[in-house]
Amino acid sequence: MFRTIEWLDDTSEVRLVDQTKLPLALEHIITNSHERIAESIEIMEIRGAPAIGAAAGMGMALAAIESKARTTSDLLEYLEKAAVTLNTRPTAVNLTWATNRMLDVAKTAEGSVDDIIQKLIEEAKEIAEEDVRMSKNMGEQALTLIKPSYTIQTICNAGSLATVHLGTVGAVVRAAHERYGGNIKVYAVETRPRQQGARLTVFEFMEDGIDTTLITDGMIGTVFREGRVDCCVVGADRILRTGHVINKIGTYTMAITAKYHNIPFYSVAPASTIDMVTNPEDVIIEERDPDEIRIINGEYVTVPDAKVYNPAFDMTPPELIDAIITDRGIVHNPTEEKMKRLFEND
Ligand code: MRU
Repeated sequence: MFRTIEWLDDTSEVRLVDQTKLPLALEHIITNSHERIAESIEIMEIRGAPAIGAAAGMGMALAAIESKARTTSDLLEYLEKAAVTLNTRPTAVNLTWATNRMLDVAKTAEGSVDDIIQKLIEEAKEIAEEDVRMSKNMGEQALTLIKPSYTIQTICNAGSLATVHLGTVGAVVRAAHERYGGNIKVYAVETRPRQQGARLTVFEFMEDGIDTTLITDGMIGTVFREGRVDCCVVGADRILRTGHVINKIGTYTMAITAKYHNIPFYSVAPASTIDMVTNPEDVIIEERDPDEIRIINGEYVTVPDAKVYNPAFDMTPPELIDAIITDRGIVHNPTEEKMKRLFEND
């Protein structure tokens, strides 16, 4: 798979895959504007927690260049505003994680304004490279849980397109596919209403020759009862210190159903997705436009003013999760104590 987002050194621009066009067309957006990056995140031309974190980091680097600041305090003021502009989605913690990391660099870096801008560009590129390394690492670690000939069920898209490269779930599936000579299968849940499973996960796994079967959200119980699935591996938009996993709407229902059928349920995410501060009751679950549900292919499929509830994410409690796979290790039967241990050497 190609990279979802890249910094172009020659022109100091950002190039990202327009995910709203997939799988019918592979088109890129190239921009030097942090506001255009913010828009891309908001309208989901780029989406997936680690990918929007990388986009926000690069957006901050673009903002630093745009600022034309002459003093460090002017630069900081511009960047503080850019961070607010870039935080267009509230649930995936990677967004604030990346903008805060960039602000920290701007506050602590020494040298001229130009030196600081250069450091910000390097930091944005490093956020992206780190993401690729974390994905590889998670994929390798997960091989202790994924056995040859397993069928893995996933939801939404936590593949290469949700990260800079490889994916979170994508890295797990790809590592197993490679290690077991292709002897691995995937069931991808369509994922209403934005259909990231159908449009993106099926597309990218088929590109890589991975045996993938598409099902609708309502078929989860049936495929479990029929014994078609060995384990569930889902991504995360935010994982709390309590072990709660916030992920695409439908994940919670899938975890409850997996528990009933004794199917192991794993969530995989890099450290940048782990939020050790926020309490479960304080997480903001993004609610999206009702028309995402009312309209399919440009046409209403319900009464145009039908009342709609459209939360984009849900929260799965730790008692439904068998393991959380991170780049810092695997946390079996997550508890606050075990989650804290991941960060004890920081
Ligand atoms: O609304 P999205 O498409 O940005 O949501 C992303 C997800 O929920 C992904 O499926 C994922 O599990 C987290 S990103 C690796």
